[in-house]
Amino acid sequence: MGTLVTASGLVKKYGDVVAVAGIDFEIREGECFGFLGPNGAGKTTTVRMIHCVSPVTSGTLLVGGLPAGIDNRVLKKMTGVIPQEINLDIDLTVKENLVIFARFFDIGRAEANVRVAELLRFVELEAKAAAKISDLSTGMKRRLLIARALINRPRLIVADEPTTGLDPQARHLIWQRLRQLKTQGATLILTTQYMEEAQQLCDRIVVMYQGRILKEGTPGRLVEEEIGREVVEIRTPPEDDARIRGHLSGFDCAHERVGDTLYFYCRDGHGVMKKLLELDLPNTLNRPATLEDVFLKLTGRSLHE
Ligand SMILES: Nc1ncnc2c1ncn2[C@@H]1O[C@H](COP(=O)(O)OP(=O)(O)O)[C@@H](O)[C@H]1O
Ligand SMILES: [Mg+2]
Repeated sequence: MGTLVTASGLVKKYGDVVAVAGIDFEIREGECFGFLGPNGAGKTTTVRMIHCVSPVTSGTLLVGGLPAGIDNRVLKKMTGVIPQEINLDIDLTVKENLVIFARFFDIGRAEANVRVAELLRFVELEAKAAAKISDLSTGMKRRLLIARALINRPRLIVADEPTTGLDPQARHLIWQRLRQLKTQGATLILTTQYMEEAQQLCDRIVVMYQGRILKEGTPGRLVEEEIGREVVEIRTPPEDDARIRGHLSGFDCAHERVGDTLYFYCRDGHGVMKKLLELDLPNTLNRPATLEDVFLKLTGRSLHE
């Protein structure tokens, strides 16, 4: 599979603010590539450079072999953008929002009507075609943004936090649609603060923090390498740590104390739980390790605000 996007030494500054601090990554044709990170990590800044609305400060950024620049019409034509902000035209109906967008891409009226009908069906908004934007729920608005991003049948789809603030039903519907687009052959670039979203959708991810990339890999491998397979959480006061750790000395686990919780990262969570029964601890939990654990390990479990 070919490479669609290549960044090397990519930097973006806003005056003195370094939003992206020199990052390297490669996105392959046909994959879903995720930028995972908290607010302010530099995710939106990075994808805005990829879809050619924000100039690169330094470094190189190639999309489809061409330098990404704000006047690159070829790249704009092959890209569909689902923005983080809901920037629909509130003076227009649902359908009109799509028709206007088709005009930006010089799609003829008859063809636009065909595509609009097809896309409204795809995002399950046919019944809302004539509705005003103000009558839509947030989930519907986000689905309309997806439809709008697809009007030019893009090869590359950039989705910037497509499910932030949505309830679980709305979120799952959007996940299904994004996966469907990938199955149809599109390359997907996703940004998200949600570890579960990255795990659900992405083939490969980078963990971004303060303008830098901390790690890259497949979600499964990152979890396995950084954490292990399982996490045992024990809610106890720190005075118990030495006794519990001594009791588990036969197991190959890393451990960490954060606030009221002692964490063990291990392969054999079941064995650890069994052994812990002998100590009669009140509150223990064994669960699979997730990307969230990786993320917290890389960026620290305490708040930095
Ligand atoms: N237009 C802008 N002007 C100045 N600073 C900006 C601008 N856009 C983003 N930033 C800053 O760049 C950093 C990264 O922001 P952003 O890319 O939006 O992060 P994310 O999308 O991961 O939340 C933040 O510190 C943010 O305040
Ligand atoms: Mg953002």
